Amino acid sequence: MTEIRATNITWHEGHVKREDRERLLGQKGATIWFTGLSGSGKSTIAFTLEHALVERGRLAYVLDGDNVRHGLNKNLGFSAADREENIRRIGEVARLFADTGAIALTSFISPYRKDRDQARAIHLDSGLPFIEILVDVPVEVCETRDPKGLYKKARAALAEGKGMGFTGVDDPYELPAAPELVIHNDRITPQEAAAQVINYLETRGLLPDLAR
Ligand code: ADX
Repeated sequence: MTEIRATNITWHEGHVKREDRERLLGQKGATIWFTGLSGSGKSTIAFTLEHALVERGRLAYVLDGDNVRHGLNKNLGFSAADREENIRRIGEVARLFADTGAIALTSFISPYRKDRDQARAIHLDSGLPFIEILVDVPVEVCETRDPKGLYKKARAALAEGKGMGFTGVDDPYELPAAPELVIHNDRITPQEAAAQVINYLETRGLLPDLAR
């Protein structure tokens, strides 16, 4: 857990409650956390799901690894410490989004179990649902897809004896112990994957229609 470094800071309680915002939006806030290897299709599913939810009148927003690394997290690389900080920040940002009443969809490899568990813990502390979804695709399949040519680069770096610390090649990925949902994304379309998530959310009562 990261310590608070600042001194002389006080927590301010606002006058508007989460329930007020949720009533305004007619929905409940939540975070849907996609985790899995590069090339497994996390972002494609997240953006398809975002579209499907918005079409159903739900405010959803994707926080995407590659995109966030162009802005908020542009000062972070792929060392273990930087990946941890990447996920710590996104856990906090997703919690803020969910607290507004929005449905935050995060798409990060998030390779370390303890970092994902920490993101889950801060949501549960705030009374917000946290749905961890493993996008499960064998590394060989991700490597065959290689949409950004990064597996090829990582193999070349490894062959030169340098390595590049690429997840699934020469950097670890720790499987979730108890994800809420597993999507086997080597056999289905993004639309089918998004439908699986919506079905799960409906079954859990996480897509209620609140009276406005
Ligand atoms: S995480 O490990 O910190 O969660 P994140 O999801 O933000 O990673 O970023 C992963 C994306 O960055 C990959 O999809 C890939 O496009 C790119 N990338 C570049 N270098 C690496 C690397 N060494 N390991 C994994 N992904 C990398």
